Amino acid sequence: MDTPPHHASDGLPIRPEAPWLAPLAGYSDLPFRLLCRRLGAAVACTEMVSVRGLLYGTKATMPLLATCAEDAPLVVQLFGAEPEEFTRAVDMLLPLGFTHFDLNAGCPVRKVLKSGSGSALLKDPERIGNILSAMVRSAGPGRVGVKIRLGFEPGQAVFTDVARRAEDAGAAWITLHPRWARQMFTGQAHHLRLPELIQATTLPVLASGDLFTAADGVRCLQETGVAGIMFARGALYDPGVFGRYLGLLEGRSRPDPSGPEVAALVRTHMELVRAFDPGGFRKMRSIIPRYLRGLDGIKKLRTQLLACPDWESLDQVVEEIAALFPAPGSPAAEALQTRTDRFL
Ligand SMILES: Cc1cc2nc3c(=O)[nH]c(=O)nc-3n(C[C@H](O)[C@H](O)[C@H](O)COP(=O)(O)O)c2cc1C
Repeated sequence: MDTPPHHASDGLPIRPEAPWLAPLAGYSDLPFRLLCRRLGAAVACTEMVSVRGLLYGTKATMPLLATCAEDAPLVVQLFGAEPEEFTRAVDMLLPLGFTHFDLNAGCPVRKVLKSGSGSALLKDPERIGNILSAMVRSAGPGRVGVKIRLGFEPGQAVFTDVARRAEDAGAAWITLHPRWARQMFTGQAHHLRLPELIQATTLPVLASGDLFTAADGVRCLQETGVAGIMFARGALYDPGVFGRYLGLLEGRSRPDPSGPEVAALVRTHMELVRAFDPGGFRKMRSIIPRYLRGLDGIKKLRTQLLACPDWESLDQVVEEIAALFPAPGSPAAEALQTRTDRFL
């Protein structure tokens, strides 16, 4: 049977029922990826990794590549500006067992832009094509994707141009976060630009942007016809969003996370950090309030967390999480569900 072109990504599922965990600098580390996979993420991306950092062996770079057998399929996201550096970076990563690579052409953070990387590349679509060609030459077909925004300046759309170049370069997927780089995270993602991209390319299109809940994911899929979706901030606040989304696709609506569910999730996250990033105590302590946003009592808990010197004391504070949640079905629980500021 002929494989349609949008299934040409070698070993990576790109389908509605295979939600991805987006690359999230500072967050999509190994423990978090494993947590999301256990809760339904089909593919996960690393945090963005600097090709220069890799080539110069900077101290901060190698920990970003920590992985294990359960952490598959994995996409390593790279940022940089020079095609030749991408060749060398991918050549370095292949013998370490990494197989799939994504080019970051969407990050709008000043530090990244300064080096001509991230969304600065959108000012030079030809360069994006050259970088992708270099990556595909090293990694092989089906192994390389690119993540973009609509364009750099509002109104100056380059996404269809970039898609054509990505296709010519032999890329296998394209992810669009339909905001302008200048917008950073303000305003709303323009999901209705996604069908324009689908029209312009034979590559499978993944959607990213303002997919905070399971319902957002299903709506985006149905309204735009994208091949698949990525959860980013939605997963940071509720890693259970993957399972909720998969259930909703099958017509089963699950309520928002209950107190016991969130408490269990925090415990699993803590176990994963202890197993895979034993030095990650402070980071874990700072992550916990993220799962509790919008709840009354969070301030007090935050103070208690900050006073925890070790894992054992953290365990004790986590015992109190379930009780912070309003009873399911209560007016307080409904008010919490409709508070969109939980996600900002
Ligand atoms: C804290 C944070 C870190 C991010 N890091 C990356 C990154 O390393 N690479 C990347 O391509 N996008 C990164 N993004 C963008 C997300 O992958 C995603 O495209 C964006 O958040 C839009 O999706 P959302 O509105 O559903 O969160 C990051 C976003 C956030 C909030």
